[in-house]
Amino acid sequence: MRNKYKQVLVSILSGLMLASAYGAANEKSSAPTSVSHTADNYFPAAEMMTIGVYYYPEAWPEEQWARDFANMRKLGLEFVHMGEFAWGLYEPEEGHYTLDWLERAVNLAAKAGLKVVLCTPSATPPVWLSEKYPEILMVDAHGRRMEHGTRTHANWSSSLYRQYVAKINAQLAQRFGHHPAVVGWQIDNELSHYGRQFSYDDFSRDKFQNWLKKKYGTIENLNRDWGNSFWSQLYQNFEQVRIPNNQELLAPPNPHALLDFERWFADEAADYIREQATTLRQYSRHQWVTTNHMGMHRDVNPALTRNDVDITTWTVYPVHGELLSESGPLGFRLGDSAMLGFMNDFARSLNGYSGIMELQPGQVNWGDVNPQPLPGAIHLWLMHAFGSGANLICSYRYRQPRSGSELYHYGFVGPDGVTPLPGGLEYAQAMTEIQQLRKLRKSDAKMPAAYAARRAAILYNYDNRYDLDNHPATTRWNTLRHELRYYRALKALRAPVDVITEDRDFSSYPFLIAPAYQLLDKSLVERWTRYVQNGGHLVLTTRTGQKDRRGMLWEGPWAAPILDLIGAKFGDRPFDMLPGTLKGQVSASGKTYEWGSWGESLVPQPGTTVLAQYADQFYAGDAAVTTRKLGKGTVTYIGVESLQGDLELEMLRSVYTSVGVAVEALPNDLIVNWRDGFWVATNFTSEKQTAPVPAGLKLITGTRELMPGGVAIWQE
Ligand code: GAL
Repeated sequence: MRNKYKQVLVSILSGLMLASAYGAANEKSSAPTSVSHTADNYFPAAEMMTIGVYYYPEAWPEEQWARDFANMRKLGLEFVHMGEFAWGLYEPEEGHYTLDWLERAVNLAAKAGLKVVLCTPSATPPVWLSEKYPEILMVDAHGRRMEHGTRTHANWSSSLYRQYVAKINAQLAQRFGHHPAVVGWQIDNELSHYGRQFSYDDFSRDKFQNWLKKKYGTIENLNRDWGNSFWSQLYQNFEQVRIPNNQELLAPPNPHALLDFERWFADEAADYIREQATTLRQYSRHQWVTTNHMGMHRDVNPALTRNDVDITTWTVYPVHGELLSESGPLGFRLGDSAMLGFMNDFARSLNGYSGIMELQPGQVNWGDVNPQPLPGAIHLWLMHAFGSGANLICSYRYRQPRSGSELYHYGFVGPDGVTPLPGGLEYAQAMTEIQQLRKLRKSDAKMPAAYAARRAAILYNYDNRYDLDNHPATTRWNTLRHELRYYRALKALRAPVDVITEDRDFSSYPFLIAPAYQLLDKSLVERWTRYVQNGGHLVLTTRTGQKDRRGMLWEGPWAAPILDLIGAKFGDRPFDMLPGTLKGQVSASGKTYEWGSWGESLVPQPGTTVLAQYADQFYAGDAAVTTRKLGKGTVTYIGVESLQGDLELEMLRSVYTSVGVAVEALPNDLIVNWRDGFWVATNFTSEKQTAPVPAGLKLITGTRELMPGGVAIWQE
């Protein structure tokens, strides 16, 4: 199989090299240059997934554009993404717009047979704007104004900045909103202030104060809910409230203030995205709108804009020098399957359409250390996203830059602009396979019953992440790791997963997992109870229900609202954590597991069964995991986080098997997903694995024996 790929790649490569002379591209394209959209055919089901790439025409001589677009088509790409950072070129002087060059680029792309995605350039205001109105610049935690010179330094809480953004967006949308080749818009770029996180300027402070006024009505209410009588933190009016800022406080900020501030920040970002979408839609027709969220980033919450965009897209660079402790020795070259899968399944579950707007093409430049991805890893990520149901993948970027801030960042082609780099060829390979899969797709394919029976939802609320991250109580706690651990375990059982938010109906999922759901209210507990009574199987994990939505502990027993539901109480020392690298022990069904970050002691009530108990410390024998039947369903409470994730896996396995749902035992990080009638096995492990292909069945691509990074696809 590898040889077959090689042949495909060699023929693509030779085609590309032929087109290296400037302007040599003039061939007929097979991709449509004009797309007539209705809301339902932005992403036609029959196409399943499309692949494109970022290109910066402004960075290259115009006489090379046509050649570059033609070469993109030769790689099989179907769209090109342009213009997210070009405001300085669109509006070199205030009110003087120069969009002709972009139109020439769009037309050439269309001529080559590419669809086009354009962007709003709000991440990079032009220098004259910052110079003339410094108030549009963000202020960091030290009170320093960030200046022109890189990007994301603008303050989107400044209404003046928003006006300028609206003006340039209107110009772009008027000009390209009806262009037949332009299929979609991306708002901003990875909306955030990167490492500076928040802006501590006066506009943001005003807006935060107004948000608080609306939420609390009176300052007394705020003082009560923030616990401000302690340390004399009492405010007399909303105008006295500052943005919580470590740099100006002697002790960590009030946790309730911080929680509210992060909620406000996410709301404000969502409002900004919504405002930009409204401008675009005012002038554009039949074009989709998205924004590219940073994967697993917590400050901007994609769930808040799920109804304002047509497709949720995100960005990910799986290999950037991180040693992944939960993956094998090749993890640093293959990336984390759980992180990729969780984000794919979250984005898709938001409104049904999802994609990766930036996926790594090879080495990056911005990690502390920037290793090469394993040969095949890029193809692995692409096909894993395909198996996760992605509609679109776009790679960052086509050409390796020769100048500017991202030297050493790979592209599809090297600095000469024509020699394909290995990553570019892996995209081409994926696109060739997608074409083949499109032909084989059966529109009436149904999810296999045994797989559908394992369907699970992970319930996800950013508030929990804010509060737990802000107040972890032990340095050994990591909220994201905890959430991903359950995701990883579900995938090892070969279960399909949606990552959903609370506004969704739980009833279509036989299994619902709420990991570390620290903040809740009684109405959520009632919904969970009904879900279980009606036959659902609920898994709650450690730290769930310990606080109300304000971040306050309950005036009552520990985790009071969930006690009736789980059929257990917490002991008189409800939780423990171990210092340094000390390991505690938990035993379940004769096996011993290690823990260290967080362990809770449970006291089961009559009718509740103990699945695991502590095997050492002064509470040896106390329950760590309990389960009970309730109505037609079950509730399991996993009160300890293991060091390896092995206990979580065994507990989930027992939840499934005890209710008669058969699961599999895939090695961690061998991911097998189903999409549109295709099984897609992707090997993120560091060893050779065998794909679970039924005997006698012919593979569409790949081999049964999968090397690290290998992919196999078959149809049943
Ligand atoms: C992303 C960013 C891109 C580019 C890329 C480089 O985070 O959105 O604009 O900088 O990193 O890997």
